[in-house]
Amino acid sequence: MSSLTPRPGILDIAPYVPGASKIQGVERIIKLSSNEGALGPSPKAVAAYSDMADRLHRYPDGGSVELRATIGAQHGLDPDRIVCGAGSDEVLALLARAYAGPGDEILFGEHAFTMYPLFALGVGATPVKVPETNYTVTVDALLAGVTERTRIVYLANPNNPTGTMLTKEEVTALRDGLRDDILLVIDAAYAEYVTRNDYTAGIELVDAGENVVMTRTFSKIYALGAVRLGWAYCPAVIADILNRIRPPFNVTSAAQAAGIAAIGDVEFLTRSRDHNTAWLPWLAERLEECGLDVIPSFGNFVLARFPEDGVHDAASAMAFFASRGIIPRSTASAGIPDGIRITVGIEDEMRAVIDAVTAFMDQK
Ligand SMILES: Cc1ncc(COP(=O)(O)O)c(C=O)c1O
Repeated sequence: MSSLTPRPGILDIAPYVPGASKIQGVERIIKLSSNEGALGPSPKAVAAYSDMADRLHRYPDGGSVELRATIGAQHGLDPDRIVCGAGSDEVLALLARAYAGPGDEILFGEHAFTMYPLFALGVGATPVKVPETNYTVTVDALLAGVTERTRIVYLANPNNPTGTMLTKEEVTALRDGLRDDILLVIDAAYAEYVTRNDYTAGIELVDAGENVVMTRTFSKIYALGAVRLGWAYCPAVIADILNRIRPPFNVTSAAQAAGIAAIGDVEFLTRSRDHNTAWLPWLAERLEECGLDVIPSFGNFVLARFPEDGVHDAASAMAFFASRGIIPRSTASAGIPDGIRITVGIEDEMRAVIDAVTAFMDQK
């Protein structure tokens, strides 16, 4: 037994289990378990990444200056208020480290992104889940969950794994209902996919005060999960705090180069978005036709609920998918044991999924 004791909370963390990517003995896998953009990354991003190979002995630009300028120009934001990270996971975790600790509470919905409790426990804070209505977190439930100990509210909008979203009006009401000493983190990892015009990723809410941060990722529509790249748009005071605690070279040169090139490939981004706009409803409708309950999704994935009848349940469906080389993701760890989350893939993959679900649901 080691006589070293980790900080309180750390032993309560069950390590995050990423979406599976392999099935023993199966060569051709259809991986739909991590919401990675269906079309893969822009070829320009891949080329920019490769071009870094002869500079591996050089440290990256620790300030991600060109990348922040490029993101700033893309969204009309002040680059000084953008902080980049090794995935949005890093910036989400840094926010917890900066603003919460033992005795504090971090609030989110009962089916929120499953990293939020880990961020809380990692800094010794208490994760607090509020009940959802129809798999959607509500402003009322979040505000009712606030106590004098609340320090951070994490809101994934749209949320993973449910795909549900809050409107601009609702997020604004949430911000207005929170005390000034509570940080609202709007995690807009799937913002690019949303087509509703009553949606906001949260930029104007960040600009309206000093207690809202928006985070974004290059892992989803830009399909650059392997390089680990995300960013936060913050009030100046929060950007300053994050820059004090982030590791000095947290974003690799290859990630910075790939990110800049990906932003430059506007045509590819549009194609990726259009693909999702076409195939998200196709997937949802076909799954419903198979008799499944599908939660309305605004991301690049759908959560389907399987009947708990002992034959067509989610665990049996996962095994059936695996027998066909298809890997979606069980949502049991997010508190939805009858659910399976399926990422929107390319046409062949989508047809293979529906063939599998049809055959599975036809089983007696
Ligand atoms: C809602 C949400 N936030 C953040 C992340 C983390 O993404 P990354 O660290 O790859 O940027 C994910 C990834 O699944 C997500 O679904």
